[in-house]
Amino acid sequence: MYRMAAAFDKLVFLMLMVVLLLNISFNKVLASDPDMLQDVCVADLTGKPKVNGFICKENVTADDFFTTILGKPGATNNSLGSVVTGANVMKIPGLNTLGVSLSRIDYAPHGLNPPHTHPRATEVIFVLEGELDVGFITTANVLISKSIKKGEVFVFPRGLVHFQKNNGKKPAAVLSAFNSQLPGTQAIAVTLFASTPPVPDHVLTKAFQIGTKEVEKIKSRLAPKK
Ligand SMILES: *[C@@H]1O[C@H](CO)[C@@H](O)[C@H](O)[C@H]1NC(C)=O
Ligand SMILES: *[C@@H]1O[C@H](CO)[C@@H](O)[C@H](O)[C@H]1NC(C)=O
Repeated sequence: MYRMAAAFDKLVFLMLMVVLLLNISFNKVLASDPDMLQDVCVADLTGKPKVNGFICKENVTADDFFTTILGKPGATNNSLGSVVTGANVMKIPGLNTLGVSLSRIDYAPHGLNPPHTHPRATEVIFVLEGELDVGFITTANVLISKSIKKGEVFVFPRGLVHFQKNNGKKPAAVLSAFNSQLPGTQAIAVTLFASTPPVPDHVLTKAFQIGTKEVEKIKSRLAPKK
């Protein structure tokens, strides 16, 4: 009897350990930017050694934690009718190692922030002005979409393809928050059709089940303007 109880205890102990270990590694997998190891580590953007982020500057001022770039709408007179202004570690060096950043996105009437992903961050948007149709697509290929307006919030989970479209007649703008100092962006169309060097036509014809002519047409439309 006693033996059985001891064996049972052992089993319970083992199971707890497994759960604990799984939990630890699970947390690691889900973590976004790593935690900071000191109060501040203002990025030395010119620093030579590349670590996971930027090395820390020697002398720090308030301006390292400051920017005015989100105060005004960006210019939306481009082919998509939208522009993203990032207030990330590249613009606010003080964000280095802090795991957060902001952007402002402006949309002309009918402007589109085209389908894209942020490999390193979840995004939360707050509508400053106007109305937008927004959505993301899950890995099960389900579109989760909604029309949102001034004062409303929507979330795009990390890594999932998402977009925002201004379907109104007036300009729109959002503030977006990220749980990364540098979320990174891959715009699907540009990533596939305007990379350097280019993705080979035969990869794209097969992937999209279209002809070389069509691939070339999309490539020429998306090519960076010289
Ligand atoms: C930082 O400040 C100290 C003291 O004022 C100065 O000696 C040093 O040269 C500064 N370092 C840099 C990289 O500006
Ligand atoms: C957009 O407008 C700004 C000023 O209003 C101008 O300087 C710029 O050249 C325009 N860009 C394009 C692509 O038309």
